[in-house]
Amino acid sequence: MELKRRPRRLRANEAIRRMVRENHIRVEDLIYPMFVMPGEKKKIEISSMPGVYNFSLDEFILELGNVVKLGIPAVLLFGIPESKDSAGTGAYHEHGIVQEAVRLAKKNFPKLYVITDVCLCEYTDHGHCGLIENEQVLNDPTLNLLAQTAISHARAGADMVAPSDMMDGRVAAIREGLDKEGFSHIPIMAYSAKVASGFYGPFREAAGSTPQFGDRRTYQMDPSNGNEAMLETALDIEEGADLIIVKPAMAYGDIIYRTKERFGVPVVAYNVSGEYAMVKAAAANGWIDEKRIVLEALVSMKRAGADLLITYHALDVANWIREEG
Ligand code: PBG
Ligand code: ZN
Repeated sequence: MELKRRPRRLRANEAIRRMVRENHIRVEDLIYPMFVMPGEKKKIEISSMPGVYNFSLDEFILELGNVVKLGIPAVLLFGIPESKDSAGTGAYHEHGIVQEAVRLAKKNFPKLYVITDVCLCEYTDHGHCGLIENEQVLNDPTLNLLAQTAISHARAGADMVAPSDMMDGRVAAIREGLDKEGFSHIPIMAYSAKVASGFYGPFREAAGSTPQFGDRRTYQMDPSNGNEAMLETALDIEEGADLIIVKPAMAYGDIIYRTKERFGVPVVAYNVSGEYAMVKAAAANGWIDEKRIVLEALVSMKRAGADLLITYHALDVANWIREEG
């Protein structure tokens, strides 16, 4: 048989396969999302997310020790406040739970890169990401509160802020607020292409942030839309976003690809709670090989064009990378 091209030549053994491998997951790519709450000595597992916990601050610092030891460069913090109200005041309180967590994290681990999620939904009693009037989410009155939230995080020492609310104009409002307060050096990682997704279910259990009425479809994007994701991203970049999050990730490889091709900015894939829960459930049943599935899903995000990966699997992944050398 006279075949000149035989692609199988480069698949003959592990050595050559490794040599020609095009994409890699590095420990440096990982951002680990964590949930902090008031109290002491509390480490409560989220039932739909085995291996993921709500931490009181003392336990949070212990866990951060493991994160740092594994070489994971960054965490993304979410807060579960003591109490909630209609204006989400816990989100922008100087001594709110995330603000205290940031202070403690930076004090104990100055080199750890601390990113904060900026949104109101964990802090509002109605569970929506903005202020409410007649069951409608108000856009413009919410912007100032988001800016105040970002500023309070920066004051506490956050290295980067990540707005996830999907209000129009929030990146501009946050950029202006940060700049005015002397934080022009703090980057914004915007959840730009964030869809109204069924894949956030377990997160809402963790954060107690399920909307008390209605849903998030008036502000998060319709999952059917790709061009709209490009519009949202273009606007966020114009308004000052430094990095762009695509969320969820597994079913949105096309959006990751288009974002990277079109804008060339750092793209971050958010491997969300529902994606994690599905893998964990199937693995617990012995139906899939967890390590293979996780690494395959994550490398697909890199292949699509993601630079960074936000994932609840980060600790496992860091261990696996270390084992393989
Ligand atoms: C808050 C926020 C959510 C997530 C990140 N930030 C939930 C939501 O929008 O309902 C989802 C994260 C995940 O599912 O892992 N706006
Ligand atoms: Zn929100």
